[in-house]
Amino acid sequence: METQKMISSRKAVREYHGQITDYQLHEILTAANAAPVAMGQYDNYQLTVIQDPKTLAKMSGIYDAPTVIVLSAKEPDAGKDISAGAIVHNMELAAEDQGLGANYNMAGLGSIPNGVIPNGFTPIFALTIGQTNEKFTPREVPLDRIHTNFVK
Ligand SMILES: Cc1cc2nc3c(=O)[nH]c(=O)nc-3n(C[C@H](O)[C@H](O)[C@H](O)COP(=O)(O)O)c2cc1C
Repeated sequence: METQKMISSRKAVREYHGQITDYQLHEILTAANAAPVAMGQYDNYQLTVIQDPKTLAKMSGIYDAPTVIVLSAKEPDAGKDISAGAIVHNMELAAEDQGLGANYNMAGLGSIPNGVIPNGFTPIFALTIGQTNEKFTPREVPLDRIHTNFVK
């Protein structure tokens, strides 16, 4: 989809109907790796793709998503939260551009079982993803949804 159209069509989807394909996952991970991160220090970040049903069943707040991708960071890094946002946002756009349902997630971070995230990394942000029947068409987004002041 054209970029501006995709940005206006993006929305939180919290109901999923099936696993994503490996090709769809590949496209999402490509988008993650294309994201900007603070100081270009990509080694400070870690992506963990969780698709194992037993592991997912132990997690809460993930809306029964068949795929959860967790973005973790090494401490300390002043820009880590912002970098995590850029990476996860890229992934959501790439997911929904392929017609998948996706949503940002912080609620599930506290329930990630031990041993899933590599040592030395702290989970920051995640994306829940799955197949959806939702359609993605540009939404009317009010320009004052985020208050803006102009200095011209
Ligand atoms: C930092 C951040 C954390 C979020 N955490 C969650 C979450 O844990 N669970 C959830 O259902 N949605 C979560 N969301 C999604 C927001 O609730 C959603 O994006 C917002 O309500 C706007 O809706 P829209 O994405 O459809 O425009 C999060 C969004 C952001 C940016």
